[in-house]
Amino acid sequence: MPCEVAARFLILYGSQRGQAQSIAEEICQQAAEHGFTADISCLSNQHNYNLDSEIRPVVFMVSTTGDGDPPDTAQKFVRKIKNKSLPHHHFSHLRYALLALGDTNYANFCNGGKTIDSRLQQLGAKHFYPTGHADDGTGLEVVVDPWIEGLWDALKKTFSSMDNFHKTASGQEKNKSDLEVDLHLLKLSEADSQKGKEIKSDSSDVETLSTVLVASLKQSVPPLSQSALSVPALPASYLEVRLEQVSTERVSISKAVQLTQDDAVKAAILLELDISEQNLAYQPGDGFDILCPNRASEVEELLLRLDLQTRKNCAVQVNLLKNSTAKVPLHIPQNGSLQFILTWCLEIRSAPKKAFVRALVDFTQNGSEKRRLLELCSKEGSADYNSFVRDANVCLLDLLRAFPSCLPPLSLLFEHLPKLQPRAYSAASSSLQHPGKVNLVFNVVEFPARPEHPARKGLCTGWLAGHVSSILIEQQQHKKLNGSQCHLQVHVRPRPSSTFHLPADPSVPVVMVGPGTGVAPFIGFLQQREKEREANREATFGEMWLFFGCRHKDKDFLFREELERFAHNGTLSHLIVCFSRDEPDAAGTVNRPTYVQHNLRLHAKNVASILLKDKGSLYVCGDAKNMAKDVNDTLLEIIGNELQIDKLDAMKTVAGLREEKRYLQDIWS
Ligand code: 2AM
Repeated sequence: MPCEVAARFLILYGSQRGQAQSIAEEICQQAAEHGFTADISCLSNQHNYNLDSEIRPVVFMVSTTGDGDPPDTAQKFVRKIKNKSLPHHHFSHLRYALLALGDTNYANFCNGGKTIDSRLQQLGAKHFYPTGHADDGTGLEVVVDPWIEGLWDALKKTFSSMDNFHKTASGQEKNKSDLEVDLHLLKLSEADSQKGKEIKSDSSDVETLSTVLVASLKQSVPPLSQSALSVPALPASYLEVRLEQVSTERVSISKAVQLTQDDAVKAAILLELDISEQNLAYQPGDGFDILCPNRASEVEELLLRLDLQTRKNCAVQVNLLKNSTAKVPLHIPQNGSLQFILTWCLEIRSAPKKAFVRALVDFTQNGSEKRRLLELCSKEGSADYNSFVRDANVCLLDLLRAFPSCLPPLSLLFEHLPKLQPRAYSAASSSLQHPGKVNLVFNVVEFPARPEHPARKGLCTGWLAGHVSSILIEQQQHKKLNGSQCHLQVHVRPRPSSTFHLPADPSVPVVMVGPGTGVAPFIGFLQQREKEREANREATFGEMWLFFGCRHKDKDFLFREELERFAHNGTLSHLIVCFSRDEPDAAGTVNRPTYVQHNLRLHAKNVASILLKDKGSLYVCGDAKNMAKDVNDTLLEIIGNELQIDKLDAMKTVAGLREEKRYLQDIWS
């Protein structure tokens, strides 16, 4: 509902001796100067207003009388709202501000206002501006004047968020954002739905695609009765546009296996995806992108916090303000429902960048909160920003919790929240061994609780883990999964690697370094090689060395049986494993290798010979932040020692290996 009409609000006062009334009238008079239209009524004139269906913001002015009682003029109103049969969400539509008047020389200071305030809260009404408590004992004006001054800004923000329409009430001031967001209630006709279904999504023309998008999204807007925590469906044509027109497929999970023991610190899960119907081809070393939605509970909380909960099913139209050179972000579909956009299009978990924090300042009312936000985004506050926001994995919702007076408009979110990215996983299988299937492996990422946020799981891994838990239980109970029992389907697109493949010549030796889930692509390599060896016993196959590492032999030795089989049947020439957290064995080996690079060092001669003499390849997969760097340093050391050259020359040699595509990495942070 665009607020082209002057923004209108309602003032209700409950006065005993006329003070509340005169302050109410003062606000009413000032309203026009600030571009608002105010209606005013005494609380006792109940025929003048109906809060049960009030959509205007309401400003209450309530004095106190007697032993902390509401004024006589408010008694009837108080009795009405105290009615016990009212449901707790009775006033959930109501946005209000309240100024309570009282005197600290008497007991129950401001109790008249407090009584109304707390009951409105109980019934679901929300403050759009903090309650003021003015003390006649020290001078009402000490609180009243600044309270009124702040009210105008709060009203502007309230109108802007209620309508998400970035015009100030006077139409003069311009919002900081270049985007204008308009919410329309979308009515779906049968014809619209049909149209959505008929449209083919094979066009590469952007204009046509966006038309496809609109039609499909209309179809996707969930019915209003849908449960609060459900995730809106993802239309196929949307994926087309979003993923740069690379087609994605909806595939079923045919199996899930927990690869770690229950007491392992990080759970690792294998998913088997059935890709037979979609005919998706891949090679070991390729990956798959999985598209996951934001958590329904977080989307819901964000909607609530932004006062947009009742509008989640509205279709969103994003327009650029006149003369703007900005572009409407391509990942925000026009006419998608608000809930859909927050669920599938925006990375709501991302750490707000400094520019976003700066923009939030303008929508924060409380002075000390404003100052803190300004500190965080200042040049001098970089370390502070890093520790408070980035290192703590703080997201927008966490910031909004920490800064309760901040109420940004939707356009700001659209401008600053990045596109929700698909998550990439390496294939942990070979289609020679698993026709029509691909296996993906992941650790369930856990972010521990911090003062800034509760404990939570990684977005995609948490989502997958949540969904597969029922499959795991069924499997444990030895129930067979068939098509109808596949609870979860995921949207995937293959992500072919240009280089992370086995050498074309199978006689070339390879060294694979993959601790933890970094072993995934090597399982694919080894399954492939095992099959090739079975198919051609006469051929010459190069050595395969695998350096694997995990914490405990008995808890997180992923693919242990399969790896031991590869070693046993000669597919793997060397399986070299280290355990970083196991106690030293009975022999009490001193300086036993704990990390993969320690084992590389122990086998330096062989590694150097494979790379420098036999023209073999080195593959590294896993953690980019520490492991891959440490392995690289170790490689420099090994090559430097072998060739008796200094570090600079060793670096040149390693750069040469990279250029020849014989030192390949598939790493992530
Ligand atoms: P840690 O967790 O005991 O430190 C898989 O995650 C394995 O990689 C774990 O045994 C883990 O050990 C180990 N790891 C952690 N940091 C590493 C690093 N910098 N280099 C190699 N391995 C590392």
